[in-house]
Amino acid sequence: MALFTKCATVLVGLLTLSDITMSESLATMRPRAEAAGRERVSLNDRWRFQRFVDNPDGLSYDILKPWILPAANDYLSGTRYDRPSEPGPGSNVTFVQPGFDDAAWEAVNLPHDWAASGEFDFSEDVSGGTGRLPFTGIGWYRKSLSIDARVVDSGKSIFLDVDGAMAYATAWLNGQLVGGWPYPYNSFRLDLTPYAKAGDNVLAIRVDNAPESARWYPGAGLYRSLNLVTADPVHVGYHGSYITTPTVSAEQASVSLRIEVENKGNLTQTVQVTSEIFELDSKSRKASGDAVAKIAASTATVSGGSKYSVNGSTTITNPKLWGPAPKQTPNEYIAMTTISSNGTVLDTYETPFGIRTVEYDPNQGILINGEHVPVYGSCNHHDLGSLGSAFNYRAAERQIEILQEMGNNALRTSHNPPAPEWLEIADRLGLMVMDEIFDTWNYAKVENDFHLLFPEWSEADLRTFIRRDRNHPSIISWSIGNELPEQSNSTGTATAKRLQDIVHEEDLTRHVTVGMNNAGPNTGLAAEIDIIGLNYQGEGKGSASSGSFAAFHSKFPNKMIWSTESASTVSSRGVYVFPVTSNKSAIVGGGPGEGGDPINSHVSAYELYAPSWAASPDKVFEQQDRNPYVAGEFVWTGWDYIGEPTPYDNSSRSSYFGIIDLAGFKKDRFYLYQSRWRPDFPHVHILPHWTWPDREGQVTPVHVFTSGDEAELFINGKSAGRQKRGQYDYRLRWDNVTYTPGEISVKAWKNGEEWATSSHRTVGAAAALNVTADRTTIHGDGKDLSFVSVAVVDEKGDTVPQADNEITFSIASGPGEIVTTDNGDPTDPTAFPSKTRKAFNGLALAIIRAEAGSTGEIVVEAKADGVSAGKVTITAS
Ligand code: GAL
Repeated sequence: MALFTKCATVLVGLLTLSDITMSESLATMRPRAEAAGRERVSLNDRWRFQRFVDNPDGLSYDILKPWILPAANDYLSGTRYDRPSEPGPGSNVTFVQPGFDDAAWEAVNLPHDWAASGEFDFSEDVSGGTGRLPFTGIGWYRKSLSIDARVVDSGKSIFLDVDGAMAYATAWLNGQLVGGWPYPYNSFRLDLTPYAKAGDNVLAIRVDNAPESARWYPGAGLYRSLNLVTADPVHVGYHGSYITTPTVSAEQASVSLRIEVENKGNLTQTVQVTSEIFELDSKSRKASGDAVAKIAASTATVSGGSKYSVNGSTTITNPKLWGPAPKQTPNEYIAMTTISSNGTVLDTYETPFGIRTVEYDPNQGILINGEHVPVYGSCNHHDLGSLGSAFNYRAAERQIEILQEMGNNALRTSHNPPAPEWLEIADRLGLMVMDEIFDTWNYAKVENDFHLLFPEWSEADLRTFIRRDRNHPSIISWSIGNELPEQSNSTGTATAKRLQDIVHEEDLTRHVTVGMNNAGPNTGLAAEIDIIGLNYQGEGKGSASSGSFAAFHSKFPNKMIWSTESASTVSSRGVYVFPVTSNKSAIVGGGPGEGGDPINSHVSAYELYAPSWAASPDKVFEQQDRNPYVAGEFVWTGWDYIGEPTPYDNSSRSSYFGIIDLAGFKKDRFYLYQSRWRPDFPHVHILPHWTWPDREGQVTPVHVFTSGDEAELFINGKSAGRQKRGQYDYRLRWDNVTYTPGEISVKAWKNGEEWATSSHRTVGAAAALNVTADRTTIHGDGKDLSFVSVAVVDEKGDTVPQADNEITFSIASGPGEIVTTDNGDPTDPTAFPSKTRKAFNGLALAIIRAEAGSTGEIVVEAKADGVSAGKVTITAS
């Protein structure tokens, strides 16, 4: 009992990790649960790392598996795995031994992606599918940590929380095998308590990335955050809170909270569990003001080595609801749970949440808080462009902000769980999320993908995923998979049923979906799944003039339908290929009117071209409008990503699918979506640019995207005609314009009123570099970023549309660092950390970070031969 009567607050701060930063910036790390009795410390800084192309240790998942599988036990309804009684393998490997001298290994901070800074491999026999970066091999990470004797002596539990590790992560503490988790996108906890000692400890983590393990660029290494958590043996378990709001009205919301109390000690303990609810301050992520509700104390008697759940409920009057921006407001609350024993606080735990209702209406789509919200969504991969897969809060926030500027109100985490902080951004900024877990089930898409783990791990992976994420108000649906090879057969149906049942056991408040690209209305999968999720087939693949929305709707009149994946339109920013198809959508190819430029590996940004299974935005919009019961779409993709450079897999390294390029520059398509998704935002966009020295006298179609309903085009001041949009027209096109230098301009109207104007003029020679930053003040914490854009401009300050000047970036003064550069060109072979980068169609980007602990002005300079240099000043504070 002495163990539990100690005042828990005295223990805070006893964990002394001499070589790590105790407090990380809010911009990069958001502590979820910390306070009396519990301490959570970032382990992100000061690791040593070494990559090995060939296996250096003789270990493999097959050898380690008996010691790793027991980690699944907490998430299994049937079979449990016993840890073998003998010590685990690996203790003879020098890298796990405390005395090993790792001074020659690379010093790194987490999140870390060892491959993103590597050279691209453009050898002929290498496909661009996984991005040509060196992500394969075995990676070893080592870190020493010092644990205060009082933590160990007081019998505290010591946990390692890993937000995600690529892949097959296995950990040793002080030479002893602790355990691991193979699926690289899930978060997991390992119990270090039996292996920890007072004083110096050495943690060693091995990750293993096989070739052919992904269809896209996965990244490599400890690419998300790691934390060390110490807690009283009686504490809220890992992801041990579950909040629902069963009834919600403007006057009152009921809140139910289930808390799982875990007792890691040997003795039975009787504890009291209470919770208070506060409004959450969205910026600080802390409780604000006085409690708005309280959940009365429940008593839990928990025997040693077991768990016990207590349920409580309360009501909140006049609740501030969470709803998607911009029409609704993403208000959040936080429940602060306390476990105490005889008046002594043993643990406190924070659960941020939101109050809202979601309805899935087969005839209207999604209703949030009773209001219909069309799904204007995008699919996105987890990489962050030139930063690779290493999670960075600001980079992820920027991606979502730019999507939101387009009117994007929903995100699909294709095809795997995101970083936990990513969901926090979605909650805070008010986006709806389809949280997706798997790309494969029983059958392979590539040789070493998740199908190898599926039989033993799918239940555990799915349950831990739902338990981690189910309190996020942004999540409106769970997706259990994408384009499974077994989608049309009985294995697929049975697997879908098993997985969906698991989801329902873990969370009954959201409907489940799956991305079906082939399974038709008569398949078992379609009959089984809560929400019909269609990839491409809804609107009709390729040149098909219509698709399968109607057939699904008539077969399943009581199920909601949405496009889990649509469009897959391909384009290179600022590239225009002639002639232009006169069709609404065309299959990309190298022939006339097919949009491709196979010599330079680029696709035309007239935004009309897609692979054979896909379609232009215009075609998708038409089919969504003709079938208005469809809830909406998730476009493939919002942002370009590393890998999958269809249609030029043999010559490129990053995708063409993005509405926004890899560097964050908007393709023309951005404005087409913005026209539809933000109909009240006055704008008009005109393409192509108007600097074509070798096209004089040639037909050069002009297309206009506008949220207005009518527009008039002027060429050198002379009207080329006024056009009104028809019911299923989403662009206005003047396809017979003959190019003459000068100016093209457009005036748009809406409901007869002037709405917006825009123009392009023929520019002169490149004269200067115009340098701007997305944020000119950043935190000096070594994590926050400023995204610095360079436009190559002519004497009048207009961007030179085809400029490819080689730009050299430097820090002229101040405590800053150039992390990476990019330009959005999927063919660019220059490594991401290079300080020199060619402009791609007039633009380039440098990502700047301030040194940790620094303040002051950072001057970023860009230079190129023959043009005036430019600079921008960023303040670190
Ligand atoms: C889909 C698939 C996505 C991506 C896309 C490219 O079939 O689900 O992951 O590969 O095609 O068009």
